[in-house]
Amino acid sequence: MGTSMEIEGAFASASGGGGGDDVEKGEVESIAGNEGVAYLVWEDLTVVLPNFGHGPTKRLLHGLSGYAEPGRIMAIMGPSGSGKSTLLDALAGRLSTNVVMTGHILLNGNKRRLNYGVVAYVTQDDVLLGTLTVRETITYSAHLRLPTTLTKEEVQEIVEGTIMEMGLEDCADRLIGNWHLRGISGGERKRVSIALEILVRPRLLFLDEPTSSLSASAFFVVQALKSVARDGRTVISSIHQPSSEVFALFDDLFLLSGGETVYFGEAKVAIKFFAEAGFPCPSRRNPSDHFLRCINSDFDIVTATLKGSQRIRETQKTSDPLSIMATAQIKAILVEKYKRSEYSAKARSRMRELSTIISITESSSLSSLHSSLFNSPQHQGLQVEASSGSQAGWWKQLCTLTRRSFVNMSRDMGYYWLRIIIYIIVSICVGTIYYDVGTGYTAILARGACGGFITGFMTFMSIGGFPSFIEEMRVFYRERLNGYYGVAVFILSNFLSSFPYLVAVAFTTGTITYYMVKFGHGVSHYVYFCLNIFGAISVVENCMMIIASLVPNFLMGIITGAGVLGIMMMTAGFFRLLPDLPKPVWRYPISYISYGSWSLQGAYKNDMIGLVFDPLVPGDPKLKGEDVMKNMFRMPLDHYKWWDLFALFAIVVSYRLTFFIILKLKERVSPFFRSLYAKRTLYHLNRRPSFKKKPSLSSRRHYNVRSLSSQEGLTSPIP
Ligand SMILES: Nc1ncnc2c1ncn2[C@@H]1O[C@H](COP(=O)(O)OP(=O)(O)OP(=O)(O)O)[C@@H](O)[C@H]1O
Ligand SMILES: [Mg+2]
Repeated sequence: MGTSMEIEGAFASASGGGGGDDVEKGEVESIAGNEGVAYLVWEDLTVVLPNFGHGPTKRLLHGLSGYAEPGRIMAIMGPSGSGKSTLLDALAGRLSTNVVMTGHILLNGNKRRLNYGVVAYVTQDDVLLGTLTVRETITYSAHLRLPTTLTKEEVQEIVEGTIMEMGLEDCADRLIGNWHLRGISGGERKRVSIALEILVRPRLLFLDEPTSSLSASAFFVVQALKSVARDGRTVISSIHQPSSEVFALFDDLFLLSGGETVYFGEAKVAIKFFAEAGFPCPSRRNPSDHFLRCINSDFDIVTATLKGSQRIRETQKTSDPLSIMATAQIKAILVEKYKRSEYSAKARSRMRELSTIISITESSSLSSLHSSLFNSPQHQGLQVEASSGSQAGWWKQLCTLTRRSFVNMSRDMGYYWLRIIIYIIVSICVGTIYYDVGTGYTAILARGACGGFITGFMTFMSIGGFPSFIEEMRVFYRERLNGYYGVAVFILSNFLSSFPYLVAVAFTTGTITYYMVKFGHGVSHYVYFCLNIFGAISVVENCMMIIASLVPNFLMGIITGAGVLGIMMMTAGFFRLLPDLPKPVWRYPISYISYGSWSLQGAYKNDMIGLVFDPLVPGDPKLKGEDVMKNMFRMPLDHYKWWDLFALFAIVVSYRLTFFIILKLKERVSPFFRSLYAKRTLYHLNRRPSFKKKPSLSSRRHYNVRSLSSQEGLTSPIP
């Protein structure tokens, strides 16, 4: 292991996020030959949480090395907070932005990023659409990702098989449920999440505590994972307190404590290693419990306190090494013993083999090796896998996603239905308040205010569907990272599925107000009126999407959205006449890029041009609509109202494009910034002599008998 810190290719690699419809060609070529085999090697993986001078730098992972092979299932075990999720995130390229990773991750001998579908990852929390049933969720997922060549029946067969495999038959037709809709249980949700990923037999499957809320069914779930592995897939799963039967299903074991390797190797041999190290597993104890008991230093203080009291002294035999040593000490001994053991030497040589041989092996020989090893009849059709998580065509993805999104919208009361009802009620209010407004002198102001209200406040109410949209976005992020589809497909499908609802909102509102207020002079005016409302509501929707992609949660989103839309309304030309707006900022450019001014101008032109109003003093000449607009509302009449509508729709399109670009940039540019951040952090850290030095094997520092609370700094010697 080298002594210098090197920036991992995961950040520095030039390849951006491909996957979905837009996988980069080079990546495809390098992977295509491997036909679904994934040999994963990680070397000297260190994850630090830099503090930039405020307290010690925390090491979350200490130079971990290991490998995972096809056909085998690996368990990552360790006490809570030992870095299991961090290790999985690091391998999957999904570390949070505040930490820095160094080391190498090689997939089939090549450095590459493992996100956007290269790896399927079942995270600790389940992100699902609550309005769909279990069967629907899995079916849509299957249609999104299974090859387009499969017939409907074949897809259905795979779906039913997966439902059975995960033991979900009983709840298959129940709704999943969300924050306001009680649905299936937590364990069932977890199993649905796993089902979604094992559906396509991904060649590289990560799971973070898949069995944590499953109790008795954990065995079946792990058995299903094992069967995935038997198909020649590589499965890595962190696991919490497995029973001895579950533990026996695992081929390999990665035992972590405080971010350090306690043991890595075959799961069966671990018992031998512990015995050799002087901590044999009592014959009737569950081995995994024994391992965790040895290395879980969380409760050293408690044990020490208890020891002081009579209770324990009476019951414990002093011959048990576990009771005379603090677990931190045991852990330190194990860590060191492992480093010097034959197991670690064997692992290192195997790693070297995997990282060098595979990169030069002809892909054909690799795949023949693969097919001779794992030719399971059940999943023959799924053997060849592209580098993204989906094999479905673009068009199929779009159709499926649009349908799913449409179903979700139709079942979620809060998405559009509630809004349609509120719009109808408010429209009736507006209709009655301005009922038959007429062309008297006072009607001028009334028409102005009514137009201002409809294009301003009524469109503003569209932020109500934001929470539902956020839920959909969360599902999008998960599916995008697992490579189900690309950004473009998501945005298009969202547009298509929401279109009918927006039209419904616009036309109900438009019809009620138009005919009650009696704006009217003809069908084209009515159509224009409705289209104008439609455009304005679409802008608000799109604006909220942009906000959703920039802020972390929906409360902040609604606050930000209200602020932004408030500004747009202020500059529309009703609260302050357009020519009176201060020229810098407010007139140029805000009033041009905000939808308010365009839709208000269009609405006034549509309404007033061609009308004649009664004068203030009876007997004076009647007031023409054009003059009213020019002199009272001071709106320019140099273009037709259709140009205003056109500008409105141009804004809709440009907002949607902005949304697309933001999502894309987040994928492409964030790795670049992360690599800069990593470089900068490492530059600072490397200047500290204490960091450059690897924690040496004989270092006394590691015989740390302090409790976890003081050890939580992960024994980092960095000041
Ligand atoms: N982005 C982060 N910022 C700050 N601390 C972090 C971050 N990620 C992880 N940690 C810390 O790193 C340690 C390991 O976290 P991790 O989530 O990997 O533990 P775990 O082994 O998965 O635990 P559990 O079994 O409870 O899920 C914890 O002490 C956690 O507080
Ligand atoms: Mg975790």
